[in-house]
Amino acid sequence: MPYKEEVVIMQHILSAEQFSPDQLAGLFAQADGFRETDQAIASRRDVLQTHTGRIMLSMFYEPSTRTRFSFEIAATKLGIGVVGTENAAEFSSAAKGETIEDTVKVFNEYGVDALSMRTKEEGHADRAAAVSKIAVINGGDGKGEHPTQAVLDLYTIKEQLGRLDGLNVVMGGDLAHGRTVRSLAKMLAKYPGNKISFVSTPELQISEDIKLHLAEHDTDFAETTDMYEALRGADVVYWTRLQLERHRTDKDISVGQEHFVIDATALEVLPSTAIILHPLPRNKEISASTDSDPRAKYFRQAGNGLYVRMALLDQVMKNRT
Ligand code: NCD
Repeated sequence: MPYKEEVVIMQHILSAEQFSPDQLAGLFAQADGFRETDQAIASRRDVLQTHTGRIMLSMFYEPSTRTRFSFEIAATKLGIGVVGTENAAEFSSAAKGETIEDTVKVFNEYGVDALSMRTKEEGHADRAAAVSKIAVINGGDGKGEHPTQAVLDLYTIKEQLGRLDGLNVVMGGDLAHGRTVRSLAKMLAKYPGNKISFVSTPELQISEDIKLHLAEHDTDFAETTDMYEALRGADVVYWTRLQLERHRTDKDISVGQEHFVIDATALEVLPSTAIILHPLPRNKEISASTDSDPRAKYFRQAGNGLYVRMALLDQVMKNRT
């Protein structure tokens, strides 16, 4: 590995931008270790002592399966106690109009260590961190960012293809409203020679701020509606669902997206060495028949999320007295 495996003190996890390639290499090595120790109950019991007495709060204001469960399981496996709610929009005082700042100022008083959170609004994780004495982990803020997903996406690419540079990455779907593609694009821009092809309808293309970020980091990109042409040269296919919950005029916008489906025809043009990733949940944009193709890695990717989040939590906890 060309990168030095570095452990960096992280106060909060808020954006893909905060990670360096050396730090990511350190996290990946740690995630490998956690996968290894997870294989036998005796070593799992050892890991369980790692952070006994620590507490992670888990507040999800938007639906989640993978992010919430994998963070809560990761914490539990590290001996960190977990307290939280899966529907914070209704079951916390947010429903009574409390601001995120006031909620966090109360948590500051409770002698806890981390807050794993997902919010409906972009920027809420930053607002929480600005007043927080505990580590804030952004598990997705509206259509802003999803940094821990991007770390596990990169980990999976490295695991499957052995490198993170010189890659042709094809990202497709609702790029205007999806936060995973935004964070992943920022991650890929840290490594040399990557090229990103964004496949979508013009209305749902990747936003200007990401294009600017890529240009500033000398990362090539192209926008296209020609899915098959993009797939022909792909090393990594990163597909995403239509984010209907973030649309105002659902129906008309979704029409063009129906053509961007990874199915038997798409698999025919995709190189045999390529991998197919998806943050999940999926709708119809990847056919169920694709699951049995050896290039489909999205369930492995979801599983990797557990070990990557154990590594992230371990590093965040190292910063705490
Ligand atoms: C993604 C998210 O929440 O942004 N899911 C996830 O965390 N794996 C993707 C999505 O909801 O489409």
